[in-house]
Amino acid sequence: MYHLPELTPTVEIRRIAVLTSGGDAPGMNAAIRAVTRAALHQGIDVLGIQRGYSGLVEADIRPLTSPLVGNILQRGGTLLKSDRCEEFHKPAVRWQGYEHLREMEVDGLVVIGGDGSLSGARQFAAETGFPMVVLPATIDNDIEGTDETIGFDTAANTGLDAIDRIRDTANSHQRLFLVEVMGRDSGFLATEVGIAGGAEMILVPEQAIDLDRVSEALQQGDSSARPSSRIIVVAEGRKPGRTQRLAQALTERGFNPQVCILGHIQRGGNPSARDRVLASCLGAMAVKVLQAGQGGCLLGVENRHLVQRPLTDLGERLPLDPALLELAQLIQQ
Ligand code: F6P
Repeated sequence: MYHLPELTPTVEIRRIAVLTSGGDAPGMNAAIRAVTRAALHQGIDVLGIQRGYSGLVEADIRPLTSPLVGNILQRGGTLLKSDRCEEFHKPAVRWQGYEHLREMEVDGLVVIGGDGSLSGARQFAAETGFPMVVLPATIDNDIEGTDETIGFDTAANTGLDAIDRIRDTANSHQRLFLVEVMGRDSGFLATEVGIAGGAEMILVPEQAIDLDRVSEALQQGDSSARPSSRIIVVAEGRKPGRTQRLAQALTERGFNPQVCILGHIQRGGNPSARDRVLASCLGAMAVKVLQAGQGGCLLGVENRHLVQRPLTDLGERLPLDPALLELAQLIQQ
């Protein structure tokens, strides 16, 4: 559980808007529900912006009520739909979004999303000064300024469940499996799933694959007592087909790897208790942050405390600690 900051209302907020943006993450619905209900309890109107920044730019915006956000807490995906809006990179387009907020007399905006959404929010807030709170939601867990992101725990458990199942069949046939998990630029999910699933090797996008090292490690495994199974967790990386290319290269070196790509399976499904609680706390507190006149921040978690980080202080992406991979290696064989 979390410690909540004490916030005193200092500004009158009559209407807020909320959007979800970027890759969806389990728990986004719980966050929408919490924002909406916490606001309505304070007599604040809530508008739901459809399809992330695209809906903001196109004024695809409609009121949210308490019943509308009922029965979504336990559901994956996002009631508001999501999008990656390339157009939002253009300042003129961002100003168009700002005009729509002004026309609709919105006093504060809550953005629920990952690193792309955060950088859009940073630019928008810097240019317009519009009061906004960003809630970190991504299965990648790679947001600077927070220990946790909404959706990571669920995605890790989904990946882990798959690995456990693959392990059963891999053990029975003494096979080598390459299991691809999501993560174009970030290896948090691969590392979490790899450590929790006892993977024999974890390959993250932050490091190029060293084929000699991978083959050597597999040969070592072969020369000792023959392992009943081996699983290499591979993060998808930026260039599609990373795992298939590795499988091909290993086949050419005499191994017989099987490939299993988990893909978007990890983005769906009912959020875990942890993600629901995180999303609910962040969502409700976002309203209080706006009422306290402290918009322009990311609301995250640090040492179990909900904390606000000014958008202007945040870097691009949280780096993976390489010591984690060393630790994983220590206990792999
Ligand atoms: O940012 C979350 C994420 O799921 C990444 O892990 C993945 O690389 C990417 O989104 C996939 O994006 P898309 O939904 O566009 O396929």
